[in-house]
Amino acid sequence: MDALVPPNVERMVPYKPGKPLEELKREYGIDHAVKLASNENPLGPSPLVVEAVRAAATQLHFYPDGSGFDLRHDLAQHHGVPMNEIVLGNGSNELIDQVCRTFPTPDDHAVFGTPSFVCYELGCLAENVPFTAVPLRENLAWDVDALLAAVTPRTKVLFVANPNNPTGAHMGRADLERLLRETPERVVVVLDEAYVEFADAPDFVSALELRHLRERLLVLRTFSKAYGIAGLRVGYGIGPAKLVDFLQRMRAPFNVSLLGLAGARAALKDPEHVARYVALNRRERARVGGALTELGLRVAPSQANFVLVEFARPGREIYEALLRHGVIVRAMPAPLENWLRITLGTEPQNDRLLAAVREVLR
Ligand SMILES: Cc1ncc(COP(=O)(O)O)c(C=O)c1O
Repeated sequence: MDALVPPNVERMVPYKPGKPLEELKREYGIDHAVKLASNENPLGPSPLVVEAVRAAATQLHFYPDGSGFDLRHDLAQHHGVPMNEIVLGNGSNELIDQVCRTFPTPDDHAVFGTPSFVCYELGCLAENVPFTAVPLRENLAWDVDALLAAVTPRTKVLFVANPNNPTGAHMGRADLERLLRETPERVVVVLDEAYVEFADAPDFVSALELRHLRERLLVLRTFSKAYGIAGLRVGYGIGPAKLVDFLQRMRAPFNVSLLGLAGARAALKDPEHVARYVALNRRERARVGGALTELGLRVAPSQANFVLVEFARPGREIYEALLRHGVIVRAMPAPLENWLRITLGTEPQNDRLLAAVREVLR
């Protein structure tokens, strides 16, 4: 019999999310666990979002506005760009897939870093687009020379997460400018800025400020991290109108839900909520990073809402032991087998994490 699926689909492995709290309860009987595994906002959504979603719930018999007009309008004002330069996604993840469906063919090629966000590879595999995954430097920093060297005459898409996940490292202004200038014109460069709100390094710059450097640039943003509405699934892309128009053609009708549209608009109206979280994250990133370093662990410098930490034993073992203490973090695949990615939580949550790590290391 013919194979059920083509070889590229055969090679795909489902995306493995952070372990849900309910699953820990089912499997280990542990109540009151803390989840520091998916880079979610530990303060929860803004009260304005909850109110807006409640109000929108009475309209659930209607389809959402398929063009997302109001949200795109608000985002256009927020960023000072025309509405036709904004495309909405069911999370920025959907836009990553959309990019892989829209621009490259299986005769083209994509470039991205490794370790980086796994969905660039999944998107390429799904569309059967050949790719080169370019290793980061030894110290987990971006290697712009290597990224540029991996670009071939067939390369059509280049993904960079800035700051990167799972390392938390950022690409500074000089490197980013060089990448945007020197990547050949035909390539669509995708700057995935899911963690942009948390970045405060003096040389950090959003690619939104560097749009003049190249035509084919798409900047991805999300409401899932700093804005605290991961459950609503809303992300967006900003790029030249021509590029955005093609993404719009490939988009499924009504890809962002009615609750998502309402919740994201409300989230934009509460910048103080985001600012509170960003300030908390900055304090806790320094405190938790310092405490883990004092325990003799290597902590990668982070510009995001998580830290990547190296242990002397396989991370999987530490991960399992932490689970038994009711703390869910994220184990990493090779070459980060000895590392764990830990989302920064509230102070009490982080205290619980630190206490659990001390116990496990004893
Ligand atoms: C770098 C990066 N990009 C994109 C996403 C996808 O986020 P969402 O689909 O919730 O917008 C994530 C989520 O973890 C991420 O880490």
